[in-house]
Amino acid sequence: MSAQRARSVTVRAPAKVNLELRVGPLRPDGYHTLATVYMAVGLHDDVTVTRSTTWRVEVQGVNADLVPTDESNLAVRAVKAVGKRIGVSEPLAITIHKDIPVAGGMAGGSADAAAALVAANTLWDGGLDRESLLQLAAGLGSDVPFALMGGIALGSGRGERLTSVLAKGSYHWVFAFSEVGLSTPEVYDETDRLRQVAGQHPPEPTTSAHLLGALRTGDAVGLGVALANDMQAASLSLRPELAQILDIGRQYDCLGAIISGSGPTVAFLAPDPTTAINLCVVLSASGLPSSVKRTIGPSHGAHVVPAVV
Ligand code: C5P
Repeated sequence: MSAQRARSVTVRAPAKVNLELRVGPLRPDGYHTLATVYMAVGLHDDVTVTRSTTWRVEVQGVNADLVPTDESNLAVRAVKAVGKRIGVSEPLAITIHKDIPVAGGMAGGSADAAAALVAANTLWDGGLDRESLLQLAAGLGSDVPFALMGGIALGSGRGERLTSVLAKGSYHWVFAFSEVGLSTPEVYDETDRLRQVAGQHPPEPTTSAHLLGALRTGDAVGLGVALANDMQAASLSLRPELAQILDIGRQYDCLGAIISGSGPTVAFLAPDPTTAINLCVVLSASGLPSSVKRTIGPSHGAHVVPAVV
């Protein structure tokens, strides 16, 4: 069946972890200048768009009830942005299946937006190229272009300007999730507040040569040492109990432990699959995270899931 006549298209998009997240000064537009290195990981949301007579949105998965189903839903905004660009206003039924934690610091909403952009463009045979989709993505959110691109990339500006990173290797990750999410703007505000209290004035952010060097050579040990997140102090200030989860990883044989983005998800880099499995067991047994997940990265950006016939 051609995409033009398809009734429905499903697109899968990945979660991200920021291997390094350097937060610079607050800009006049309310965003912070960033220097970040994103890695897409094997934790995905699926977005299905289906031709329909009315607009409908359904969200499935853990904490699905926390995701808005109105016009503020990023997937809805993405589909409508594509429609506007190509001159189509046909209603769609949108189903979002969430595996990425809601408000978890892993860009789940951005993944849904990226998946919806690709899904609508494919279903409507919109012909938008990668550059046009990246442009629409940047208008939807700072992390949406990366969810479209996947892999490993440097992010600058407010995170939306991407440059590829020369990288090799595959990395073993364990993620520890929390029952209750954190609001990204609140964690940015807390970052500013803590800096103000300490009398710190952040310089223009840059990424570290060590981290990029480790990625270039596929050096997981070097990557573990270089993991860094300027939002971690704020995330811990808002959720002090996350320190105990980080400590479990540090006491264990993992190569690095870090809050993912604005949190509260905690990311652990493991040297091998066996250590990752054992760490999952220890974390689960501690009763501290609401759940744990083991996966690898880097992972692909938003891509169509072939229909099962
Ligand atoms: O771009 P996005 O809509 O995902 O950002 C959500 C919020 O996070 C922004 O409204 C802003 O408060 C904060 N943010 C920021 N600096 C960035 C990215 C996001 O302050 N670089």
